[in-house]
Amino acid sequence: MTAQNINNVIKIAPSIAAGRLLHLGDEIKRLEEAGVDAIHFDVMDGHFVPLLTIGVPFLEQVREATNLHLDVHIMVTNPDDVVDDYLKAGADTLSFHIEAARHAHRLCTRIKQAGRRAGIALNPATHWQNIEFLLPELDQVTIMTVNPGYSRQQHLTSMHPKIREFANFCRAQNYAIDICVDGGVNLGNAGTLAQLGATILVAGGAVFNGGSTVDAVQALRLAAATPPA
Ligand code: DX5
Ligand code: ZN
Repeated sequence: MTAQNINNVIKIAPSIAAGRLLHLGDEIKRLEEAGVDAIHFDVMDGHFVPLLTIGVPFLEQVREATNLHLDVHIMVTNPDDVVDDYLKAGADTLSFHIEAARHAHRLCTRIKQAGRRAGIALNPATHWQNIEFLLPELDQVTIMTVNPGYSRQQHLTSMHPKIREFANFCRAQNYAIDICVDGGVNLGNAGTLAQLGATILVAGGAVFNGGSTVDAVQALRLAAATPPA
């Protein structure tokens, strides 16, 4: 995964938790066929967000099954306690929520020392300025465009100014940080998000829509490369 969206080449990271979990191996094969840039792996703990999804044992098995980049997003109340487990299980990028971290800087250092990419996720209510001091340590910032917790929610367009402003700030300061947009990404907003400065689009419902995964990824890529009218 490279940084900043200079060439307007956007990376697509389908959220595997929105796929058919009883057919995880098949879903991964389809994502490989589709040539996705990463698998987005959503971890929910039933506390930071209401539901439970997949965790460390699943991640270990996904790691065994694929060489695709694993972009792990932990929506948990205790990232300080579990970051090492997810690194050990094979996360390539590990993003935790700033709202939940006790010692965010230390966590970033731990992720970087393990040779992985460090990311922070921001809830809709959290300003990017809250993590300005951490930007030199970060490879990725995930801007949530839904309140985390469920797939297939309505995309919050009210987050668009935040994406644009953060992208402009990174550009001005020469920070090579991937800007990942997560929540309600679809064919109708992918082009706008790319234009705002997103470099990675997470997609759950838009990719796992009951049809062909390969076609859905291709359509999303095309939509992201097409500037809005
Ligand atoms: C939100 C998760 C997401 C989300 C993506 O709680 O972090 O990654 O499930 O799914 P869609 O694209 O359907 O919003
Ligand atoms: Zn996510």
